[in-house]
Amino acid sequence: MSLFWTIWIAGISVGLILACVWLIKWTQKPVEGEAKLGETTGHSYDGIEEYNNPLPRWWLWLFYITIVFGLVYFALYGGLGNIPSILGWSQEKQWDEEMAEAEKSYGPIFKGYASQDISTLATNEEAMASGQRLFVTYCSVCHGSDARGSKGFPNLTDNDWLYGDTAAAVKTSIMDGRQGVMPAWQAVVGDQGVAELSAYVYSLNGRETDSVQIQAGSEKYKMFCAACHMPDGTGNPALGAPNLTDKTWLYGGSVDNIQDSIRNGRNGKMPAHAEFLGNDKSHVLAAYVLSLSKKK
Ligand code: HEC
Ligand code: HEC
Repeated sequence: MSLFWTIWIAGISVGLILACVWLIKWTQKPVEGEAKLGETTGHSYDGIEEYNNPLPRWWLWLFYITIVFGLVYFALYGGLGNIPSILGWSQEKQWDEEMAEAEKSYGPIFKGYASQDISTLATNEEAMASGQRLFVTYCSVCHGSDARGSKGFPNLTDNDWLYGDTAAAVKTSIMDGRQGVMPAWQAVVGDQGVAELSAYVYSLNGRETDSVQIQAGSEKYKMFCAACHMPDGTGNPALGAPNLTDKTWLYGGSVDNIQDSIRNGRNGKMPAHAEFLGNDKSHVLAAYVLSLSKKK
């Protein structure tokens, strides 16, 4: 926090408390020129008369107590920008402490899980219950709480894998993240080329379109696409290039979707989780993810 904000925040906070003190003092001043203390001021409305009485003592005391409380609170817990407090409390510190506490109680459990083989772990119900909780917390924003994904976010419950179905591949996806790189082809092949290529990809799934286009698309496919998606279209897990023949689509399988993929390219990004999840939790998550697809 910069000096400016420290002064700004501290100024407003302390200033408001001082303003309260001043307000109390001001209201205690006798009203000049009018009635003496304890006498009626002569104001009357609906039969209610206004007396020139001091504020009730108990009420004033409540006010003094809150002011003192505020000052003590600032001194102990801070809240005045960068000015340090006696207890040194901060949101971050409390969070870190709670995390350390949790790590102390759950760390050994996850460590125990991590020493097990992923496929064995996937049958351990207790571990999978932890895995599910982790998944809902860290993964469901993108993959959905049921892990079925959505457009651009792979379904993790089917048996179709961009990066292969091994435990090691799944764990690597989680820890190191993934970056799908499908180049854009519009500039290279033009509208005509995009139409031909999409007709060919469409036909790879046993669907028929214009046979002349399919033929032309197949030639272009060999030239531009086979290197990543393989000559037979079954994809390459080393690159995360999807299988184009299995009727399972990351970005949708309609002609429009396929043309969109080819024309503009696709760049799905799976963030790396190694740093904040660590090895042990990633291990449990990998087992959980694999257990989802093994159920079918
Ligand atoms: C910000 C969104 C996002 C979050 C959060 C996220 N993922 Fe992903 N994940 C993706 C995307 C996008 C891909 C596909 C990457 C690609 O297109 O190459 C992916 C791919 C994967 C894959 C590879 C799938 C395959 O078919 O090979 C696995 C496994 C995976 N994620 C698991 C997880 C787990 C477990 C978590 C929680 C720790 C998680 N993801 C959190 C977006 C996310
Ligand atoms: C450099 C490697 C590479 C080349 C070359 C390449 N692709 Fe891809 N393609 C990928 C990757 C990787 C993905 C997945 C992108 C992602 O995960 O976001 C992909 C995705 C796709 C998709 C979407 C699949 C789905 O499941 O929704 C289609 C369709 C596609 N490519 C067709 C083609 C065609 C047609 C060509 C040739 C013109 C081609 N690709 C060339 C790597 C490549």
